[in-house]
Amino acid sequence: MKIDLTDKKVIITGGSTGIGKEVVKLFAENKSKIALFDVNDSEGSNLSNELNKKGSEIRYWHLDVRDSNQVSGGVLAANQWLGGVDILINLAGILQGASLDIEKFPDDIWESVIGINLTGSYLMVKHVSEIMIKQKKGVIILTSSGAGVLGSSSSYAYGSSKGGVHGFALVLMDKLAKHGIRVHDILPGSVDTPLKNAQIETTRDITGNKEAYLDTKKILVEPKDIAKIIYFMCSDEAKLLKGSIQTE
Ligand SMILES: NC(=O)c1ccc[n+]([C@@H]2O[C@H](COP(=O)([O-])OP(=O)(O)OC[C@H]3O[C@@H](n4cnc5c(N)ncnc54)[C@H](O)[C@@H]3O)[C@@H](O)[C@H]2O)c1
Repeated sequence: MKIDLTDKKVIITGGSTGIGKEVVKLFAENKSKIALFDVNDSEGSNLSNELNKKGSEIRYWHLDVRDSNQVSGGVLAANQWLGGVDILINLAGILQGASLDIEKFPDDIWESVIGINLTGSYLMVKHVSEIMIKQKKGVIILTSSGAGVLGSSSSYAYGSSKGGVHGFALVLMDKLAKHGIRVHDILPGSVDTPLKNAQIETTRDITGNKEAYLDTKKILVEPKDIAKIIYFMCSDEAKLLKGSIQTE
């Protein structure tokens, strides 16, 4: 079976590093046209330049997903450049506040994490779905996490934000299906990325538990393997797929 996403018009947030970077590379290799939104300008521009030199079609936008004006303007510009939006993959996210006690949890960390992970997901979908509803088709992938659905998050804010994204995806699945839009959330397990490594290092430093750190380090999976699952989820071959997808 060949999974062909040639010429698909794709918006990917959080594509400068980690899972998003591997998603960008995989879609680019398969000749999708990509609008990449991130705040890590050096990594995002380098990645885009590198892939464009190899013949890909990618454009990088500096865009903070929690800023309503930046999202509406960025989606408008990307839609014009792409000529429509077939797929939205929202991977932008942060994990802060790992292993901090609830009594001392900093309010500004709460606001940043909820703002980027949950409000950012809402704003991206709000503006992209307007385009997809007119097109009567589209695929939207949001990124929640076992941290918000299954429990045991290292951070009160992160677990809450990802539970929120999961709930948001459930409502969207239900309401956007009638417009021909398929919505999923993916729950990656423990993936070897800057976000995950920073979290386990912080937890090790706060708790002093080096064994738990080394145990988690051993089970981290490759971001490129998560990218392959997302690629399949976005394809027509996955048209009968429903709901949330959990990975290692
Ligand atoms: N790595 C894991 O184990 C794991 C597990 C479950 C879920 N996730 C989720 O997967 C997604 C990708 O994370 P990752 O692990 O690849 O981490 P990562 O830190 O490598 O990638 C996150 C990306 O989001 C970007 N970003 C941060 N704030 C932003 C903002 N305000 N606007 C736009 N972009 C912003 C970052 O610059 C970065 O490129 C996140 O939503 C994360 O919560 C990761």
